Amino acid sequence: MLSSKDLLGLKDISKEEIELILSTAEAMKEILFRDIKKVPTLRGKSMVCLFYEPSTRTRTSFELAGKYMSADTVNISTSTSSVVKGETLRDTGRTIEAMGIDLVVIRHSCSGAPHMLAEEISASVINAGDGMHEHPTQALLDMFTIKEKKGRIEGLEVAIIGDILHSRVARSNIWGLKKMGANIRVCGPMPLIPPNISDLGVRVCSSVEEAVEGADVINVLRIQRERQDKGFFPSLREYAKIYGIDREKLKGAKEDVLVIHPGPVNRGVEITSEVIESSCAAIEEQVTNGVAVRMALLYLLLQGGAKGEGAN
Ligand code: CP
Repeated sequence: MLSSKDLLGLKDISKEEIELILSTAEAMKEILFRDIKKVPTLRGKSMVCLFYEPSTRTRTSFELAGKYMSADTVNISTSTSSVVKGETLRDTGRTIEAMGIDLVVIRHSCSGAPHMLAEEISASVINAGDGMHEHPTQALLDMFTIKEKKGRIEGLEVAIIGDILHSRVARSNIWGLKKMGANIRVCGPMPLIPPNISDLGVRVCSSVEEAVEGADVINVLRIQRERQDKGFFPSLREYAKIYGIDREKLKGAKEDVLVIHPGPVNRGVEITSEVIESSCAAIEEQVTNGVAVRMALLYLLLQGGAKGEGAN
């Protein structure tokens, strides 16, 4: 059982809860490979995806996860909703709750928005990315992929490379991976490394070569192009040269290194097409695993049973 009605971040959940989510996702993944991807587990439950920011992977995989488990799913695109008329998040949340929904998946540009919504409504809330704060379901699917490929998380050397400062993916990965016993190094342009990041128990590397040396896993972050004008790094070309992951830079990593990326990818900037298409990368598998992890979360929050129960 999860201890809360919501999943708002990985900072405040236990190692045991992460293990429960990952083991439940293992049972859910099998459903994705059936001819008929439909189980009655969440029949009669309803969920809303409320996204104030663009998304392809997270929103679609939550919607599919709900549909595969027979929940009624609705997407609200804020650009065509009453949000454009000035409705507050609180009022939007209470309005959709008045329609009888059981769960809201929210992405918002403001850090803390899902927490505020979770206090306002009695339905479950899942954080699908809030500002620069957390993106817990991305980190869970990253950990699921790492465990699937490496057989464990504990003791692995994980390098996270890119814009650590603005990355909610990095923050959730750090919280989650540390709880699961991984060792983490981070690297990126100095203005994109938070000054107190080592307080989280990670090692800051001054070069990609140092970060990659002996790594079991490299998590390459998307470079957020909108930051380029703000002086965090000189140009995309220079970023690609110094920090972009290519075959040459991978030479220092373990021979069986796993390369992951949350997507969407800037090909040729933070990672080359050659690495994306190589056998060491698992970017498409991450997307598949994202559906399984989100099915597990919907199940655990809406049914609250033991792992795999009801998944027939
Ligand atoms: N990784 C991720 O959150 O992708 P989307 O923005 O497409 O959801």
